[in-house]
Amino acid sequence: MRVAINTGGGDAPGLNAVVRAAVLSAERRGWEVVGIRRGYDGLFFPGGVVPLNGAAVRGITHLGGTILGTTNRGSPFSFPVEKPDGSVTMEDRSDEVIDRIQKLKIDCLIAVGGDGSLRIASELAEKGLKVIGVPKTIDNDLQATAVTFGFHTAVQTATDAIDKLHSTAEAHQRIMVVELMGRHAGWIALFAGFAATADVILIPEIPYDLDLVAAKINGRWQQGPEFAIVVVAEGAHPKGGEASYLEERGPGGKRRLGGAAYRISRRLAELTGRETRSLVLGHLQRGGRPIAFDRLLSMRFGTAAIEIAAQGRFGCMVALDPPRVRAVPIVEAIENIKSVPMDDDVVLAARAMGISFGD
Ligand code: F6P
Repeated sequence: MRVAINTGGGDAPGLNAVVRAAVLSAERRGWEVVGIRRGYDGLFFPGGVVPLNGAAVRGITHLGGTILGTTNRGSPFSFPVEKPDGSVTMEDRSDEVIDRIQKLKIDCLIAVGGDGSLRIASELAEKGLKVIGVPKTIDNDLQATAVTFGFHTAVQTATDAIDKLHSTAEAHQRIMVVELMGRHAGWIALFAGFAATADVILIPEIPYDLDLVAAKINGRWQQGPEFAIVVVAEGAHPKGGEASYLEERGPGGKRRLGGAAYRISRRLAELTGRETRSLVLGHLQRGGRPIAFDRLLSMRFGTAAIEIAAQGRFGCMVALDPPRVRAVPIVEAIENIKSVPMDDDVVLAARAMGISFGD
């Protein structure tokens, strides 16, 4: 077998651990592995497909980012192509991707990615490419797997940051509003907010009412601790309103989330009359070394992907179904995003301890 591996979409801690695990376990079967750099882009530029062996992946398990590079601009089905006049148009190059992969005598592609990358993988599979998916995203918003790698590292990073906010918030008797990633799912905000003992957690799944949040904060001031920590997921929105978006747009004119913490902090300052500051943790949540949990999951996923390829179960994705890793059809993972259910244990525990969700 000659296997290719690529990493697509936003990076997540653990990508390198997946690559190393897949390469080492494939090598032990006597297979050959190549890496495609920057998603599918590497198929179209010189040096974009690199041989991977034990030596090439030595010492990378603990590193953040991805040695293969990644991209979340476009896809083979809507590929940005620069015209001689400098303008950029989107073209369907999926047939060329399949053609290039065949010419490189690649028998199977291991596509490591989130919902966007897995959707691409699934569409390429429909066109006849032999693909195995590996689910990745710090957002943890993929169906069909109990958890994605990268999520718990992002939660740890966010928890550490919120821990640090407590002392400055208390010293100045301020309300601190911190915005976390997660797109339209509230997993990172929920887990980090709860772990870091926030007073209020606002997530997309529970539309908020800032009058209720202000009442919660005022009540806290009366009880003694004269500071408050509000954790807001970037996709959170008020009851009957929409999420906050930046003015600039992403590739293909896609709207980009941003500004929730600022918007909320301004309104809370008005409603409470208290000093309020906001911050956005942003891409810090994607960086750094994967914690042990994510390394373990990544290595289990990487080796399982090779095992599934050996079984010929193409069009499948590896998934954690505790206590085992198993194969599920990629389409199962991308049908809908995995939102936080209202009866999630962490939501219930947080409510039981008096944390407000603004509802
Ligand atoms: O999906 C991962 C993620 O980090 C989201 O949480 C966030 O909304 C988005 O990617 C940011 O993307 P970009 O890297 O394009 O800014």
